[in-house]
Amino acid sequence: MAILLHEEGIYDKTRIYATDINKNVLDKAKQGTFPLEGMKLYTKNYIEAGGKQAFSEYYKAIDDKVCFHPFLQKNMVFAQHNVVSDHSFNEFDMIICRNVLIYFNKNLQNDVHQLIYESLSTSGFLGLGKREGVKFTRYEDCYREFDGPERLYRKIK
Ligand SMILES: C[S@@+](CC[C@H](N)C(=O)[O-])C[C@H]1O[C@@H](n2cnc3c(N)ncnc32)[C@H](O)[C@@H]1O
Repeated sequence: MAILLHEEGIYDKTRIYATDINKNVLDKAKQGTFPLEGMKLYTKNYIEAGGKQAFSEYYKAIDDKVCFHPFLQKNMVFAQHNVVSDHSFNEFDMIICRNVLIYFNKNLQNDVHQLIYESLSTSGFLGLGKREGVKFTRYEDCYREFDGPERLYRKIK
């Protein structure tokens, strides 16, 4: 997301909140390192998504890892947040919550959908995991499908 915003020339005006319930997950994400073996796929994804530069300009390979350039983290805030029990803490233009809802029962999913709805600005984008969606939730009518297979939605009311 930071690379996309950077290439669109708007990263300096944005802030990315990277949240998870698990502190270890956040500590690992803060390191900005990824296993080398994933890079072939990430590079393919970057090119298919319309990346404008050589993807390798964003990272350095060190042993069996790649380390992404620290400038990508300059507008990132890492914070522990529980999507089930914590409140909304801001209004966002985009929320990406992938592969979390699938682990929850219907009641918990509805609670998380309420949090997402309350935290997303009107016309804001929501990205869910491939096996997740807004259908059959209380908020189904509040979103328009933006890209069905990619589970991207836009809040319309
Ligand atoms: C399967 S991983 C998905 C990670 C990432 N979104 C992805 O798609 O690759 C699920 C993540 O949800 C986090 N998680 C589980 N319950 C949570 C909760 N109640 N609030 C916030 N994060 C939670 C876990 O710690 C884990 O990092």
